[in-house]
Amino acid sequence: MSEAVTPPGAGSGAGTQPESGSSGFPPGFDPTGEASEKTLCFHGFWAWLVLLILVVLCTAVIMWLLRKCIQGPMYRKANRIDGKVVIVTGCNTGIGKETVLELAKRGARIYMACRDPSRCEAARLEIMDRSHNQQLFNRTLDLGSLQSVRNFVERFKAEETKLDLLVNNAGVMACPRTLTADGYEQQLGVNHLGHFLLTNLLLDRLKQSAPSRIVVVSSAAHLFGRINREDLMSEKNYGKFFGAYSQSKLANILFTRKLSTILKDTGVTVNCCHPGVVRTELNRHFAGPAWMKSVLQTGSLYFFKSPRAGAQTSLKLALDPSLEKSTGGYYSDSMRWPLVPWATNNDTADWLWRESERLVGLPPLEAPRNGSANGNGTSTNGANGASGASGARDMQSVETVVVSRS
Ligand SMILES: NC(=O)c1ccc[n+]([C@@H]2O[C@H](COP(=O)([O-])OP(=O)(O)OC[C@H]3O[C@@H](n4cnc5c(N)ncnc54)[C@H](OP(=O)(O)O)[C@@H]3O)[C@@H](O)[C@H]2O)c1
Repeated sequence: MSEAVTPPGAGSGAGTQPESGSSGFPPGFDPTGEASEKTLCFHGFWAWLVLLILVVLCTAVIMWLLRKCIQGPMYRKANRIDGKVVIVTGCNTGIGKETVLELAKRGARIYMACRDPSRCEAARLEIMDRSHNQQLFNRTLDLGSLQSVRNFVERFKAEETKLDLLVNNAGVMACPRTLTADGYEQQLGVNHLGHFLLTNLLLDRLKQSAPSRIVVVSSAAHLFGRINREDLMSEKNYGKFFGAYSQSKLANILFTRKLSTILKDTGVTVNCCHPGVVRTELNRHFAGPAWMKSVLQTGSLYFFKSPRAGAQTSLKLALDPSLEKSTGGYYSDSMRWPLVPWATNNDTADWLWRESERLVGLPPLEAPRNGSANGNGTSTNGANGASGASGARDMQSVETVVVSRS
């Protein structure tokens, strides 16, 4: 008598015995395991589809994270500045416009200082609409004309007795070599000298309003810059970006640091920043081929900061209550960064300050070292020398300063 072989799991009771197929295994049972593999894993089309979905999802997450990193931190404190008087230069577009929008949302009374009144008006109307703040004023300021700077200040001082925040934002980058109305190289003239005069002429209002702040929008391009004492106006050698633009942005930093020492204990702070690489009109002078322009433009949609993100470091410096006493710093992505030696050179900063005073026609704030020497062999008057014989010399040789700084 031979015993019948029962496949494993087939049960033993006669009543529960499943029907066997021709192979002797119950239906659905696959002794090789192939079928169960087919159910657990994906094969063919479905496997590729799942793989594709996973790859797309992972790429999207990585790109989203990278984009977040590129955009940098946002200023999220909710503090308001209702009624604070603010001037922002170059704010009809780009970083300046976003800065004004956020300050307007927080209740500031803002003087929009732009060179093109019609572009300024368009931005003003849009910002008023979006912020529901009517306290925005369109004022003409061409930083490439010292007379325009003086006119702006004169009008502002007639209108306001205080100034809580000055944002020196306007800038021009890598333009062909042109001159300002006063005959200075355009990038140094607009980015540094125009703001130098503007700030100095407004110091009295800022001091009266202390605690008050100055924010200077510089650039990481300062890393390539050197202050060329022999050829400050790039007459002998003009490099659009690595030369003149980088020099002007280095000048912004040296100016900030020097001014912070001058303003010590006045309650007025001054800090500068690099906004990041931002998708704005700053590259309007880019002269490359059309295909490169469109590649740059397309790439910038992802790889550059949005103007709103680009405004965040300026906004932190302008608004953050925790920075009320911080001064003389360089910030990027809302963090304070150490500076390279050529951006902290006090000798260069002193020289640049004296030279800038001479070029814009301001009397020297400090007594010159070694009796004379403002770096150009011209004599200067004493400390705070708005008066005195040599002070009169300065006032005559360069157009008279109509508004005194004190
Ligand atoms: N975008 C970046 O990646 C980047 C990076 C580092 C630093 N920055 C700095 O950020 C600041 C803002 O630049 P942005 O990127 O916002 O560039 P933007 O979109 O070109 O804006 C520059 C602003 O400055 C104004 N401006 C130019 N020349 C002027 C003059 N002579 N007088 C008065 N205003 C003048 C422009 O007015 P018009 O429209 O009338 O010309 C415009 O409103 C600049 O100081 C720039 O150097 C930008």
